[in-house]
Amino acid sequence: MSRHLLVTGGAGFIGSHFVHHVVEHTDDTVTVLDKLTYAGDEAFLDGLSDSRVSLVVGDVADAGIVEDLVAKSDAIVHFAAESHNDNSLSDPSPFLRTNLIGTFTLLEAARRHEKRFHHISTDEVYGDLELDDPERFSETTAYNPSSPYSATKAGSDMLVRAWVRSFGVQATLSNCSNNYGPRQHVEKFIPRQITNLIDGIRPRLYGAGQNVRDWIHVDDHSSAVLKVLDEGRIGETYLIGADGEKSNREVVELILEQMGRQKGDFDLVTDRPGHDLRYAIDPSRLREELGWEPRFRDFESGLAATIQWYRDHERFWRPQKAAVEAKYAAAGQ
Ligand code: NAD
Ligand code: TYD
Repeated sequence: MSRHLLVTGGAGFIGSHFVHHVVEHTDDTVTVLDKLTYAGDEAFLDGLSDSRVSLVVGDVADAGIVEDLVAKSDAIVHFAAESHNDNSLSDPSPFLRTNLIGTFTLLEAARRHEKRFHHISTDEVYGDLELDDPERFSETTAYNPSSPYSATKAGSDMLVRAWVRSFGVQATLSNCSNNYGPRQHVEKFIPRQITNLIDGIRPRLYGAGQNVRDWIHVDDHSSAVLKVLDEGRIGETYLIGADGEKSNREVVELILEQMGRQKGDFDLVTDRPGHDLRYAIDPSRLREELGWEPRFRDFESGLAATIQWYRDHERFWRPQKAAVEAKYAAAGQ
């Protein structure tokens, strides 16, 4: 039976991929609630039929808008967030409003209308691991966020858990590792380096470039979220990852190679304050309990397709590129 989903942040990078995935793989209809901040773009929903997807421009922290949309939906999938660590270091305030008050506002509406809720979060809530630590993050790892971004995501997770326990909200959570793929904002690591190279600028690695991230293709994140929405146990958290650990330096070397440059053509720049060293996900629960498997197992071919997307879709990122680089330049990055 088809459902009507309310997808918050559905005009952003990951949310828009999820909306396309839902349209392709289910009979569900979708209302996207998105504020269209600097990170959202209506054009990310191009090609989707009006009979399946509609966009409401609004704030998840606006109780009036949220109330009505939640009442009309069968389930809420909550992606909307301020999502960039570096921005959270220069101005944390929108992170508190959107990530904490926004989640609270949606939870209250879900509670009043007894609606299914799925909360999208990040592995960054767990803090970081040593480079040589054999452990990876699991659902039982203690929360230890480092940045204003990860602290607000951790807080939002705690709100969801409390609304499940205290008020019986029918919610699940998923915490995913770093996503890559088309439509990611040029402020983020991989798109920044690709678009720098298109512009003839050398890639910029923070610190010594040794930090490790666990990369997953954004379409694999979408399929995992749909799986948890359909089959996840209420109140549970599922970690989403695809065994994609790579140092930032390795990623930059691959981008350089694929774009026809020398491996050493990058610059080391000022490190991010509080920069988490390593993230790594153990996705056993998701795989064993729900039978989910990633489809994009080859990072190099996923990266090549992503590079091609940025070459072919300059109109999506060009308007923001200069302002993003000016901000980084001011921080010595
Ligand atoms: P993004 O910054 O690309 O997109 C965020 C979207 O939310 C944008 O469309 C923006 O307009 C919208 N938004 C922001 N504030 C809003 C508000 N107050 N009301 C309504 N809409 C608002 O982010 P993303 O990378 O697509 O991340 C989406 C979600 O996934 C976030 O919850 C993030 O924490 C989580 N996540 C991201 C990653 C990653 O690698 N990017 C990894 C794990 C989890
Ligand atoms: P980012 O995409 O900001 O994601 P997150 O902070 O959520 O992991 O950064 C990914 C990694 O790349 C992180 O270790 C910081 C690093 N980084 C650089 O080395 N250079 C850059 O220009 C940027 C934007 C990030």
